[in-house]
Amino acid sequence: MPARRRVALVTGGGTRVGRAIALDLARHGWQVVAHFHSHRPPRTLLGIRGDLSIPGGPAGLARTFRKRFDRLDLLVNGAALFERRALEDTDAALFDAQMALNARAPLLLTRALLPLLRRAGGSVVNVLDVGGAMVPWRSYSAYGASKAALRAVTEALALELAPTVRVNGVAPGTVLWPESYTAAARRRLARTIPLRRVGAPEDVARTVRFLADSPFVTGATVPVDGGRHLGVAG
Ligand SMILES: NC(=O)c1ccc[n+]([C@@H]2O[C@H](COP(=O)([O-])OP(=O)(O)OC[C@H]3O[C@@H](n4cnc5c(N)ncnc54)[C@H](OP(=O)(O)O)[C@@H]3O)[C@@H](O)[C@H]2O)c1
Repeated sequence: MPARRRVALVTGGGTRVGRAIALDLARHGWQVVAHFHSHRPPRTLLGIRGDLSIPGGPAGLARTFRKRFDRLDLLVNGAALFERRALEDTDAALFDAQMALNARAPLLLTRALLPLLRRAGGSVVNVLDVGGAMVPWRSYSAYGASKAALRAVTEALALELAPTVRVNGVAPGTVLWPESYTAAARRRLARTIPLRRVGAPEDVARTVRFLADSPFVTGATVPVDGGRHLGVAG
C-alpha cells in the first residue's frame, strides 16, 4: 500500500503569505487545500472559497472540506484583517471585524474540524503577528488585540486538545510589505529590526512546516521577525 499523503488546510491560502505556506507544504509532499475569499489559489492546489468573518463561515468551510477528506493532519489559520487605525478612528465595527476574522474564525474552524484532526493526530498552526501577540504596536490596538486573543486561544487549545492534537503559533514580523508603504518608510522600518532587514513569506512557511513536524512541541509561539520582539535595534 502506498503511504497516504498528509492533508493540510491553509486559510487565506490564495495570496501573499498564506499562498507561500500552501505552496511550500505542497512542494514538501503535503496534499494541500487552500481556502480563499477573493484570490483564487494556483491551479496546482485544491481551492475552497469561504467568508470566515461571518459566524457560520468556519463551519461552512469545514462542511465543504469534509465532503472530500476524512482526516486533517494540519490546519493553518492564516486569513486575517490588518488595519492600522489611531484610537480616534477605532470604533466598535472595526474592533469586532478584527476579532471576528483574526481570533474567532480560527477557534470556530478548529472546533468544526476537530474530529478530523483527532483522527489524524494532527496539529494546528495559527498565524499570529509579533505586533499584538508579543509586543504592542502603536495605532494597531484592535488588530493587536485580535492577535493577542489568538495567542491566548492557541495556548488554551494546546492544553485542552492535548495529547491528541497539538496547537502552536508562528508570529511573523514584516515578511511582506502592505502595498501602502512607501520606499522611504520601508527603509526606515528595516533599520529598526535587529537583523536589519525584513523577512520573506518563505521564512514563515518554513516555520509552519517545522511546527507541523515537531511532535513534542505544543502551545509554542515562534517569532519569525529578525529579532523585533526583543525591541528596537541598538
Ligand atoms: N505580511 C506580513 O508581513 C505579516 C506580518 C505579520 C503577520 N502576518 C500575518 O500573516 C497572515 C497573512 O498575511 P498577509 O500579509 O499575507 O495578509 P493579507 O494580504 O492581508 O491577506 C489576508 C488574507 O485573509 C483573507 N481574508 C480576508 N478577508 C477574509 C474573509 N472575510 N474571509 C476569509 N478570508 C479572508 C484573504 O483572502 P483573499 O485575498 O482571498 O480575499 C487573504 O488571504 C495574516 O494572519 C497576517 O496577520 C503577516
